[in-house]
Amino acid sequence: MREQVGFFIDDKPVQARAGERILWAALDNGIDIPHLCAEREREEPFGACRLCFVEVEGRDLPVLACSEPVVGGMRVQTRSERVDRLRKTAFELLMSHHDLDCKNCARNRSCALQDLAKTLKVSLRPKRLRKLATEAPVDDSHPAIVLNPNRCILCGKCVWVCNQAGESGVLDFVFRGLRTRVAPFRLEPLAESACDDCIRCVDVCPVGALTRKEAAEG
Ligand code: SF4
Ligand code: FES
Repeated sequence: MREQVGFFIDDKPVQARAGERILWAALDNGIDIPHLCAEREREEPFGACRLCFVEVEGRDLPVLACSEPVVGGMRVQTRSERVDRLRKTAFELLMSHHDLDCKNCARNRSCALQDLAKTLKVSLRPKRLRKLATEAPVDDSHPAIVLNPNRCILCGKCVWVCNQAGESGVLDFVFRGLRTRVAPFRLEPLAESACDDCIRCVDVCPVGALTRKEAAEG
């Protein structure tokens, strides 16, 4: 068992296991840090959403709380002008390729993006970045799951959980750059894939990209 160490978050003394990532140590101590892509059980943090930046005393640049390990005596600040700016930009980037259609989305009012917009005090429709086209086909072939890539924010949780569940996962990232999206192996419809209907991908999706069919049909 790893030893407990003391350190500070926002000047509050807290305890965590040595080597624990700052994000989980903060949440365990009731201190929120915005995050979307982190999974506690994941050994290697994915680091995709870039929302969890914090300041660590003695470091020139902000660090990602989901990947930075706790060291005894360290001093972490969850807010600063540049951290707030980085988070807002990260959020704007996510929204620039998210098909925003809350009233027709099964996750309306239980969506991580809506929660983040409130936390960060930003609009769900940021104007600074150009909106990218979201025209990928929706896969509703599966009897229980709908995959709408246009709502995907590429957090990678479904890919990770799908690969954890079976010997060879069904979901993966396909294409590159701005065209990157999540799809079953060889772009086959979900219904024709090796999906075993565990639904764990739906449970981890923080937005309305993977939903239960009955919910998607409202
Ligand atoms: Fe994340 Fe959902 Fe996209 Fe999967 S489908 S990468 S869980 S947003
Ligand atoms: Fe740290 Fe997404 S939670 S980068």
